[in-house]
Amino acid sequence: MEFDGTEILIGKGAQADVVEYQGYAYKIYPKEYPAEWIGFEMRQQKAVNEAGLSPVRYYKTDDDHILKMDLIDGTPLEKYANAQDPLSFKILADAFTRVHRADPEGVDIPPLAATAGMGLGPEEQKIVLPIIERLSGKMKSCICHLDMHFLNIMIPKGLSRLSEDTEYTIIDWMNSRIAPAVFDYARTYVILEEFSGEALAVYKDQILPQMWELGVKEEDFADAVKACFLMRQREKN
Ligand SMILES: Nc1ncnc2c1ncn2[C@@H]1O[C@H](COP(=O)(O)OP(=O)(O)O)[C@@H](O)[C@H]1O
Ligand SMILES: [Mg+2]
Repeated sequence: MEFDGTEILIGKGAQADVVEYQGYAYKIYPKEYPAEWIGFEMRQQKAVNEAGLSPVRYYKTDDDHILKMDLIDGTPLEKYANAQDPLSFKILADAFTRVHRADPEGVDIPPLAATAGMGLGPEEQKIVLPIIERLSGKMKSCICHLDMHFLNIMIPKGLSRLSEDTEYTIIDWMNSRIAPAVFDYARTYVILEEFSGEALAVYKDQILPQMWELGVKEEDFADAVKACFLMRQREKN
């Protein structure tokens, strides 16, 4: 796969660069990134396409480190998100609800329990795996995005401001797993805690109540945060 110089860098994630080129978006991974993870990401995307959670299709290219994607004519919600704009948190809250109410039956996404131990040391496994098992035993499982934050929600380009019915597209489904919804809320908690104390405060105030309303107990949320924190540490190392 050769670009002719007209590609434009439109996004940078933790792993990959994303360029716009000839009407499509391309996600370009570094050579050392395992190709089988890219294959996994393609299958995840197909699963969320089929579950009705994303219209963005992924296509293979002749380079196993470059994924072709339908281009979203959008901007990450991050550009608009700040603690002063409650609408950005309203979109985040709505995104959780949209994902969690999708029918997980027959969806080709692994259960969190099946992958959570990967890369964790024995001590961490002893903490994380029983938490997942315990909470999965007492709560209903659903599709969880597990990387839900303002960079992974795209809204239309060129809006002067957000409104109640701003359309959005959730991207970056690589981490998605079948698990109780509490893990999705916990994962975002851990991410916001790292990046913005101010956003975390609004998150606690505006978004966590929707989880308490679902009947989640505080101690169970605290356990889910502990598990997500340890899994996040592994990712960063
Ligand atoms: N299909 C797409 N169309 C337009 N922009 C995209 C698309 N996919 C990703 N992007 C942009 O690239 C950024 C990184 O992509 P993402 O899939 O989130 O990668 P990472 O896994 O590295 O976080 C996104 O935050 C977004 O700005
Ligand atoms: Mg991302």
